[in-house]
Amino acid sequence: MRHAFPECRFFAPFASHLTRASVSTPSTPAIAILGTGSNAPARVLTNDELSRRVDTSDEWIFTRTGIRERRIADAGDSVASLATAAARFALADAGLEPSDIDLLIVATCTPDLPMPSTACLVQTALGMRERAACLDLNAACTGFVYALDHAWALLSTGRYRHALVIGAEKISSLVDWSDRTTCVLFGDGAGAVVLGPARAASPARILDAQLGAIPGTADLLGVPGGGSSPATSDARRHIAMRGKEVFKFAVRGMEEVTRDLLARNGLSGADVALVVPHQANLRIIHALAQYLELPYERILVNVDRYGNTSAASIPLALDEARRSGRLKSGDLVLFVAFGAGLTYGGALVRW
Ligand code: ACO
Repeated sequence: MRHAFPECRFFAPFASHLTRASVSTPSTPAIAILGTGSNAPARVLTNDELSRRVDTSDEWIFTRTGIRERRIADAGDSVASLATAAARFALADAGLEPSDIDLLIVATCTPDLPMPSTACLVQTALGMRERAACLDLNAACTGFVYALDHAWALLSTGRYRHALVIGAEKISSLVDWSDRTTCVLFGDGAGAVVLGPARAASPARILDAQLGAIPGTADLLGVPGGGSSPATSDARRHIAMRGKEVFKFAVRGMEEVTRDLLARNGLSGADVALVVPHQANLRIIHALAQYLELPYERILVNVDRYGNTSAASIPLALDEARRSGRLKSGDLVLFVAFGAGLTYGGALVRW
């Protein structure tokens, strides 16, 4: 097997995943996406407005990233409130009540509080029942794909029936607004899906997923403050990133996980009707499209309007794809993401 980083031991573990069979077999229930929802703050922050705060320009930001504007939560918004609104839309779309949910996972790296989890706050806000597992999951920008795979696995056991999987971030709270190398990239928002037994009328069935994390890459992207380690300091509670290196790992990692997922399901890039990639940078998305030899029309892009919303990016884009009629029954949909950790992940859904 060829590795994109043949010299890099971090990518060697991908090889072993090629043999892993899809979890969903005739003996396990088919789990599907029953509904989607999203919620973005109303406040729009344009590149021109940013260029009045730091030494940058719309031309630089758009050329390097594809971003024109992003949404920024106001003081009254919390990750829990953004997540709750997205969840309400997803529940309505699925035709379910909060009391139907027995598993709630909020993927976020900007929780409202160190504890309790944001999921417990959302549980209360939605009026969910007590007998529901509620937890947060932090895999940074890969968080939604991680949460989707975990919820799928738990539902497949039959011990849980309906799951709410939410990606929500107030990433603006971690941005150093005087650092032009990072402040232009990020935005806030939330997206949600409801998972449950596949229905004849909405068979958006999860086929397969693959997760990973690359050892030794923690210092490429993160927040080196605000934690419990003696090495952290509150003065450094801001996103710090080695952008060029992250860029290379992002492209290679998304290609590797996509190739493995398609290969072990007997599929090729040509079979994919729509890719919903993590929206970090248009150049990363274009590199993925070229790798898959797919026309850009088959790649969902909304980074121009939202920037990088971390764990919210894929469910926000998925909801947009659904509501704009871009998904048709039988379409093969690929989610693929990369984020701090460095983590990566992909999932295939037959719509
Ligand atoms: N405006 C104007 N100039 C800028 C800006 C800005 N906003 N930011 C940097 N520059 C300057 C730099 O100072 C540098 O100037 P110099 O040549 O005089 O030193 C020049 O522009 C080039 O900077 P680079 O960092 O080399 O620019 P690059 O082409 O690599 O683009 C970028 C930077 C957009 C950050 C890119 O590296 C990237 O997108 N990386 C991946 C980021 C990413 O995907 N992160 C994922 C986060 S996922 C998660 O989990 C949070």
